[in-house]
Amino acid sequence: MSGPFGGRRIALGISGSIAAYKAADFASKLTQAGALVDVLLTKGALEFVTPLTFRSLTHRPVITDLFDINSPDAVEHVAIARDIAALIVAPATAQMITKVALGIADDPLSVTALATNAPLMVAPAMDAGMWDNAAVRAHIETLRERGALIAGPGRGRMASGLHGWGRLLETAELLGYAAMLLGRHGDLAGRTIVVSAGGTSEAIDPVRVITNRSSGKMGYAIAEAARNRGARVVLVTSAGLPDPVGMLVVRVESAAQMRDAVLDACDGADALIMAAAVADYRPAAARADKVKKEEAQELRIDLVRTPDILSEAPRDVVRVGFAAESRDLLANARAKVAKKQLDLIVANDITVPNAGFGAETNKVTLIDRDGNLDDLPLLPKYDVAMRLLDRVAALLSARVGKRPHAGHAH
Ligand code: CTP
Repeated sequence: MSGPFGGRRIALGISGSIAAYKAADFASKLTQAGALVDVLLTKGALEFVTPLTFRSLTHRPVITDLFDINSPDAVEHVAIARDIAALIVAPATAQMITKVALGIADDPLSVTALATNAPLMVAPAMDAGMWDNAAVRAHIETLRERGALIAGPGRGRMASGLHGWGRLLETAELLGYAAMLLGRHGDLAGRTIVVSAGGTSEAIDPVRVITNRSSGKMGYAIAEAARNRGARVVLVTSAGLPDPVGMLVVRVESAAQMRDAVLDACDGADALIMAAAVADYRPAAARADKVKKEEAQELRIDLVRTPDILSEAPRDVVRVGFAAESRDLLANARAKVAKKQLDLIVANDITVPNAGFGAETNKVTLIDRDGNLDDLPLLPKYDVAMRLLDRVAALLSARVGKRPHAGHAH
């Protein structure tokens, strides 16, 4: 299976928090994404959820006891510590965080944490106030210094009725952090990649805009795939999708705002991938007040060109453009590579079914500056993103004098 989780063996450790019920959804989504999920439940977790819940979702053994010698799972935890690609503790209670930080090993989860060399992700969940406790913070810092990825917690309402920091992150966020953890030493580690996404909107008046069709899904897939290969990602977006975790997200509306944000982010970056559908024209002047129907039977809006962001981007950054065309795809796309001096263009025939706007799949041809064509089949957008990033990674390593920056922190 494709995607960041296909065929990866992950230990999911669940400690005793009411948020343990959310871990069932997380285990299910990881399994659906192709991961082999071995669940470890502490005694505290067993007060909230049952092994059967997780066995049913993962179709794999669930480990609850270190010392039950009649169970084949009793010895299994040693093998798990050796064979996993990652250990994820979600939810991680204050007590479990303390145990792992201090190296106390007295339950299947803390033993696995001590025994494994696999990367560790900790998703805290605790009542408001506990997260602010100095002891908890000190242990979290210890884990972070040792290389653990701390995912959350989020802010909001707790089961106790209190509000504050301490909520377990949502499943989609946990999946994002898990994918990032698995790929953090990937081929884009140490690189900074700027990605734009979504259609910009250009104001006519305070209510109305001119915009381009674009869901932003292709750009978000590229940003997530780059993150999952270890890159530091800046996503400049005008799309209405939720913020992906593990990257800097800059929200903009107009082409002018996108230009400023993209050019800012390009300073020191390695690559720019412009998946955004930037408006080529904007109203010459946005009206301060709402246009009223009574004003006139007909309305004319003067349009002026917006700045071309790709053409302004620094030349030492690998520059990738998109060309959405409804006819003469290859000729138009080739002309754009030359005109905008691009390293690569992603040419996209918008008349192909299940490709382009809003779809989960895309059908594209990659064209480089020498005119070489790579005609990809219809693929999920994440897979298109991975194929595109293969090319970007190759372009980056072919550049002399620009090596990845060592040891950046997320
Ligand atoms: N782009 C940009 N700045 C703009 C407009 C577009 O950087 N003001 C980028 C897009 O993000 C995309 C590529 O340029 O990567 C598309 O090129 P463009 O020439 O704008 O495409 P079309 O608008 O389709 O061009 P044309 O109208 O000539 O077909």
